[in-house]
Amino acid sequence: MLSIKGKNILVTGGAGFIGSHLCDALLQAGAGKVVCVDNFFLGKEENLREAAKKENFVLYRDDASKFGVMYAITTKEEIDIVYNLATIALNYSFFNPFDAYMVNVELAQTMLELLKAGTYRTLIHMSSSEAYGTAQYSPMDENHPMHPTTPYAAGKAAADLMIQSFYNVEHLDTAILRSFNNYGPRQNAEGPLAGIIPKTARRIRQGEKPILQGDGLQTRDFIYVEDTVRALLLTYEREESRGQIINIGSGEGIAIRDLLDRICAYMGYQGEWEMEQARNSDVHDLCASSALARKLLGFAPKVGFDEGIRRTLDWYLGQG
Ligand SMILES: NC(=O)c1ccc[n+]([C@@H]2O[C@H](COP(=O)([O-])OP(=O)(O)OC[C@H]3O[C@@H](n4cnc5c(N)ncnc54)[C@H](O)[C@@H]3O)[C@@H](O)[C@H]2O)c1
Repeated sequence: MLSIKGKNILVTGGAGFIGSHLCDALLQAGAGKVVCVDNFFLGKEENLREAAKKENFVLYRDDASKFGVMYAITTKEEIDIVYNLATIALNYSFFNPFDAYMVNVELAQTMLELLKAGTYRTLIHMSSSEAYGTAQYSPMDENHPMHPTTPYAAGKAAADLMIQSFYNVEHLDTAILRSFNNYGPRQNAEGPLAGIIPKTARRIRQGEKPILQGDGLQTRDFIYVEDTVRALLLTYEREESRGQIINIGSGEGIAIRDLLDRICAYMGYQGEWEMEQARNSDVHDLCASSALARKLLGFAPKVGFDEGIRRTLDWYLGQG
């Protein structure tokens, strides 16, 4: 088993929701240096408040898809491992579909070119369950066909295929985590790219109605961010992950209608909901089989949904 201790680790998208928790966890695990590269499209410096207190944390405000920029950073900082988490959230597909697709592909390409050039050693890439499209069977294992329904998801699927092909042909040291829906503190609550949990909590706090898109019977597999971050660390540590695509989810499908009910009950909201049309190209069901994660990483989620949603909503309620 490999160790994070003493390694110089770069996190693309490290100022975002999952990336910032990952930076904290890597520092906690004894990384030699944690280097965050984020262009702050959606990232926030306040997400890095704890990390920034550490002497071995370095922040670059840059575009991680640019080869020249990343060549300079990975060389200067003597990077061992890259965690590639940068992306632009799924809803961007509805505003700027070409960019929503290309950003995922270009980031993966740059990380692979640098890995091939030898400026760092190991790539742990973050994929998404959206690459599968809606469940044709449930729970979904890694052999489930890929039918991405949005440009974001197509970009994620394309990046995965590119990384797998480079693993096969070039024997580059890579692994892919295919995460299902994350929730927890620091997820973006503002604007059209907001996640459903923070957006609903924000609206209720501001005296607005929660919004339900479609009939609410669509299901998602929610995994608490702390569990996902633990899986990301294990993916580096366990070399059995190399060349693999590994699902990370809870194995429980929760209907969006039930999710809203839970949030409303916790926040004491008894009013009406605003009903909107279903989102164009929305995936209907997602539910992970985590058998491979258990086998290769020894991973199982520790934070159940009741505990996770309580922690998450308490965090949002505590924000000014
Ligand atoms: N949140 C989820 O439910 C979920 C589920 C499955 C997979 N994922 C994957 O996990 C990763 C992190 O997602 P997140 O929810 O934390 O998203 P996020 O939007 O909070 O974070 C992404 C970060 O990437 C940054 N970024 C975008 N383009 C960049 C670029 N060119 N260069 C540098 N930085 C750039 C953004 O500013 C942002 O800080 C993504 O790869 C996403 O596809 C997320």
